[in-house]
Amino acid sequence: MTVTEPPVVDHEAIEAALALGPNGPEVNCKVPFHMVDSLHVPSERYYSREFFELEKEKLWPHVWQMAAREEEIPNPGDFTEYEIVGQSLLIIRQPDMSVKALHNACRHRATELGSGCGRFPANQIVCPFHGWRWKTDGSVTHVFGREGFASETVRPEKLALHEAKCETWGGHVWINMDLNAPPLRKSLFPAADILSNMGVDNMRVKWWKEAVINCNWKLAQEAFFEGWHVKQTHPQLYTFVDEPDSEANRQNVKYTPFMNGHGRFQSGDAKESFGGKPDFLQAAKLNQAGQDAMTLERDITVFESVAGGMDTRDPAYAAKAINALFEYWEGAGIPAPPRTPEVLRQWGGDIHLFPNYLMLPMWANSLAYRVRPYNDDPEWCRFEVWSLTTYPNGAEPGRAVLSGRFDKDDADHWGLIPRQDFANLERMQRGIKNRSLTETTLAELWEITISNMHQELDRRLAAEY
Ligand code: FES
Ligand SMILES: [Fe+2]
Repeated sequence: MTVTEPPVVDHEAIEAALALGPNGPEVNCKVPFHMVDSLHVPSERYYSREFFELEKEKLWPHVWQMAAREEEIPNPGDFTEYEIVGQSLLIIRQPDMSVKALHNACRHRATELGSGCGRFPANQIVCPFHGWRWKTDGSVTHVFGREGFASETVRPEKLALHEAKCETWGGHVWINMDLNAPPLRKSLFPAADILSNMGVDNMRVKWWKEAVINCNWKLAQEAFFEGWHVKQTHPQLYTFVDEPDSEANRQNVKYTPFMNGHGRFQSGDAKESFGGKPDFLQAAKLNQAGQDAMTLERDITVFESVAGGMDTRDPAYAAKAINALFEYWEGAGIPAPPRTPEVLRQWGGDIHLFPNYLMLPMWANSLAYRVRPYNDDPEWCRFEVWSLTTYPNGAEPGRAVLSGRFDKDDADHWGLIPRQDFANLERMQRGIKNRSLTETTLAELWEITISNMHQELDRRLAAEY
């Protein structure tokens, strides 16, 4: 995989890509438990079977989804399976290094052709039941017992494995089962453009883990749509030394709902040069120790190397530390993100790509989350976490594999920060069915990207395909 230059970003277009706002009756009449306004989310959206079935029919088969990291399938014939509410696709690296997504069901008697991840040797997919074969592009090459079938039932065009749309962006493979779907980048706008400008295309998997959690997929991901839960949920990270509870600190973060259901939060202007009040070094160390994703050990080493007697709460120290990081990247041959105010502001923030993928880029790293329903159950989700980083040119690691599924409380495999977040999720799912409330209540200032996601979801659920 080659190093990608950051693209030219159309900031005006991004700023203009704001959310549409609440839907009208033409959408709402088609959606049970629809959003009524921007400040409340009806509880049933998080546990109703009817709502979940509508998502299965109208959302998942028609939306672009992050199906794999490209480095899961580095070589021709490599495959990885992507499963979403009972539909399985094989994501396969082709001989020409392009990627295809094929529906994972034998055209004879429906047997799944691959599971997990692996390699199809000699560019051939072989059905484990009766041995029919396909090339990895889905064209059939061998029909065992062809003479026993009515000839019109085994014509090559009937036996070709069905394709889903498949495109790559940002080091990810994206799929859409709807062959009439708009192009990927149009659907991901403006979230993907912002992220590409931050250098995510050059990032690779450092580690990848998952947890299965008793929480609806939307409720789980929304816990990461805002940063103001830090003070209560992650008290160790709240290192503000002055006015610890001031409105100014919280409002220093800007929340932006975008079109297409995407959203982000980023530091306000006062933190543009990391000249705010937190102890820069202490905050970086706590982030590294608690998560090993947004900040890595190598970053701490660089930050410490320039601390030499300085007060690490001094904005001048933060500026020096950031400068040292850029110098380190250059010396190490690590492709750096562009040094622009937009990039600096976004560090420590979060970008949500509708419907279920989040990236939290920081330095030349990113934390990433993908949340999917688990086992056809509205109240359970499969929560995956990636630590991505930018390696020196030519030193990228090999094939990426899921290192495992770990209990959400497993301190050997999850840092303190994710364990603190995970602990809230199951509590929320239990509370959401409490008879004392019928909806959740959102803050206009810092939770508006949650309702923006739900409003886009309602538009999807009301759409005719
Ligand atoms: S089910 Fe696949 S070859 Fe028979
Ligand atoms: Fe959190």
